[in-house]
Amino acid sequence: MDITMAVLLVLVLGLLMVKFALFQPRNPNSPPCISGWIPWLGAAFQFGKAPLEFIEQARIKYGPIFTVFALGNRFTFVTEEEGIEAFLTSKDIDFEQAVQQTVQRTTSVPAEIFHLNHSRLYSMMKGKMGTSRLYLFARTLCQELHEHMDYLGTAGTENLSDLIRSVMYPATVNILFGKDVCPTNKSDIKEFEEHFQKYDEDFEYGSQMPEYFMRKWSKSKKWLLKVLEKVVADAERANPSESNTKTLLQHLLDNLHGKHLAPNYALLLLWASQANAMPVAFWTLAFILSHPSIYKNIMEDLVSVFGKAGKENIEISEDDLKKLILIKWCTLEAIRLRSPGAITKKVVTPIKIQTFTIPAGDMLMLSPYWVHRNPKYFPDPETFKPDRWKEANLEKNAFLDGFVAFGGGKHQCPGRWLAIMEVHMLVVLFLYKYEFILLDPVPKESLLHLVGTQQPMGACRVQYKLRQ
Ligand code: HEM
Repeated sequence: MDITMAVLLVLVLGLLMVKFALFQPRNPNSPPCISGWIPWLGAAFQFGKAPLEFIEQARIKYGPIFTVFALGNRFTFVTEEEGIEAFLTSKDIDFEQAVQQTVQRTTSVPAEIFHLNHSRLYSMMKGKMGTSRLYLFARTLCQELHEHMDYLGTAGTENLSDLIRSVMYPATVNILFGKDVCPTNKSDIKEFEEHFQKYDEDFEYGSQMPEYFMRKWSKSKKWLLKVLEKVVADAERANPSESNTKTLLQHLLDNLHGKHLAPNYALLLLWASQANAMPVAFWTLAFILSHPSIYKNIMEDLVSVFGKAGKENIEISEDDLKKLILIKWCTLEAIRLRSPGAITKKVVTPIKIQTFTIPAGDMLMLSPYWVHRNPKYFPDPETFKPDRWKEANLEKNAFLDGFVAFGGGKHQCPGRWLAIMEVHMLVVLFLYKYEFILLDPVPKESLLHLVGTQQPMGACRVQYKLRQ
């Protein structure tokens, strides 16, 4: 390109930017919009650098409803009562349309197949993992957790996240996919886990960027899909006719349109079932171990239910879990404090919230992380206070007002009760069987991702020793 042409191009681009920044038409009823000055990219850089801090700063500066323009999209955040209510209940917004592109980029399920399958698979999962069927998972889960804890030996020092993953990952994969259907035995689990961790780590970027820019991530995704081809074939071959003995994967296969995409759906299920539950287990144990009086009360509860804590392979019933309510409160409190940065729905018909009209096409955003820090719902919000869950009607499966970690309304997470039971049982067994000493302070949350439970910013080593 000759020099005059280059100068001309720069000039035109410059003028476009100035026009974009200064003369953007703004509907007076639209919320304030943070759009940066670069066309299309908008505020992507500032937003992407520290998204959670950006959201809170924007709320302070622009008020409870504001729009962020980035990568050609409008993301409108609602942070207070009326907006939260609209996010959870409005019929003018749509979950499927909001997540379709993420699903396509991360699992290669095309739009038409996704829309064809979504509501049917969602209903199936909601039914199969509902509270009335948790007993079908409880016994096997307990056995699996014992089996994989046995590999830890009698004592050791380990990063708490790794310790939890080494037990929880194979145990929960086995209960959802079938015993040893996925690589979960000691010899081949390592490679599988490494690829899954890479896939999970960059899931959010993978959902935004073309795969071309995500070479390592894409390699892990393809590796997992290849392994899941065999997993799906094995599950299909072993599929029993009796509904209660089928695994969740087998129910999924029975209900799926587009059987050639079964490995892709298995990947989606694998990610959804692992990506949040494991960090939640980490935070729950880390908070308990770093609060001596809570730790002490929990140990007293354990003794009152099972007798003296020790190394035996105790069986835990749903009734036992009900008696160990403080651990459930700790789990919920850990989820509250480390919740996903944002969840999203797409506006399909313009929607009025307070004095603003949010136009169709906007992504409506709710930040569970920040809603859970609103003192109106959670007084003294930064403090780990499991007791606040006394007020929740957990017998009736109701959370506290303002608790939105699992989304809300029609598309709440279908795995929420199973996830809570998994963490509850894991913590019971760990604390019953092992003595722990925290060797590092509990790390801060990384605040770098909007998708999923917050990850710890660094390692947190523990010393563990099997009780006698
Ligand atoms: C503490 C752990 C978990 C957290 C915090 C969590 C959170 C969420 C959230 C926020 C959503 C999106 C809801 C929305 O945007 O309205 C979701 C969806 C989903 N979750 Fe979970 N989840 C957890 C554990 C699990 C587990 C263990 C499973 C499966 C065994 C699971 C399966 C799913 C599925 C399949 C969806 C998609 C629902 C749909 O397509 O409509 N989740 N989860």
